[in-house]
Amino acid sequence: MSAISDQTLKSVLESAISRVAEARDAKELDEIRVAFLGKKGLVTEQMKRLGTLPPEERKTFGAQVNEAKNGVEDAIKKRGAELESLRYADLAEKEWIDVTVPGEPVKRGHLNPISQIQYELEDIFTSLGFAVVDGPHVETEFNNFEALNIPADHPARDMQDTFWTEDGNLLRTHTSCMQIRAMQRMKPPMRLIAPGRVFRYEATDASHENTFYQMEGLMIDRNISVSNLIHFMKTLLREIFKRDVKIRLRPGYFPFVEPGFELDINCLICGGSGCPVCKQSGWVELLPCGLVHPNVLKNVGIDPSEFTGFAFGLGLNRLVMMRYGIDDIRHFLSGDVRFVEQF
Ligand code: DAH
Repeated sequence: MSAISDQTLKSVLESAISRVAEARDAKELDEIRVAFLGKKGLVTEQMKRLGTLPPEERKTFGAQVNEAKNGVEDAIKKRGAELESLRYADLAEKEWIDVTVPGEPVKRGHLNPISQIQYELEDIFTSLGFAVVDGPHVETEFNNFEALNIPADHPARDMQDTFWTEDGNLLRTHTSCMQIRAMQRMKPPMRLIAPGRVFRYEATDASHENTFYQMEGLMIDRNISVSNLIHFMKTLLREIFKRDVKIRLRPGYFPFVEPGFELDINCLICGGSGCPVCKQSGWVELLPCGLVHPNVLKNVGIDPSEFTGFAFGLGLNRLVMMRYGIDDIRHFLSGDVRFVEQF
């Protein structure tokens, strides 16, 4: 018995199969399904014929219609799967991304190395109980010089060439003036640091700038001695350079301290054997410091017989230059971003 003997049914099936094979997408395929298998579809129409047939033909025709229906369904399913995989292949061709391609770099600004080191120092000192204080760039002659035991006729004024304003004030030549402001405002005992920008009326060269950065430190208490000073300076240097640093103290003259010292560190570039950075001496001058001069304490109303203290002045540019091997201080204010971008 031929599977499908009825001519109409046979042609319906053939046309269904060929149209399904040609369907180009899921939508078209669904239209074909409706056209053949839907309520008014061609295959469905054939099923409806069943009732009109004489009983002896019904069984055979019924089986044939069912077979045709199944055939169309299978064809639709198969074509559907085919179309789906074609669609994915097409997507993969057109819309792929290479997840191994590196991303677009996002440009981020960052802190100038001076600020970086300043913030590091602030962290170190606040962890040791020091307050961070600030002051104005334009200072009085009293705070910058007089109170620091540098009277007008004192030769030490020549050590710091000064920008004067027309009204007799000045651009602070060092951060030491912030000691005075702090001691006028606070009562001892006290520990503080005062970082900031300072100005000198100077010709510039590789190691001189008219504008640079310092950080002043001050500790006032009862019985402060040189050993307290040494202890804090060693702690400071160990924290900055992340290792024990050998130091030596030489006498140094600064009107606001007595005794005053130059604190040198063992050259970190050559380890002390001598190199151009330490001018073959094995030592680098880093940190002037000393015990606060009794006159300075008196000038701010602190009794030097009750309180003593130490002070130090750290050159931040010098510190950054040491850390990164920078050979010219003028780079800092050159405005050349290529310099800053290196850190
Ligand atoms: N103010 C001094 C300067 O700028 C540096 C200095 C020296 C500060 C000795 C101090 C100190 O506190 O004790 O040259």
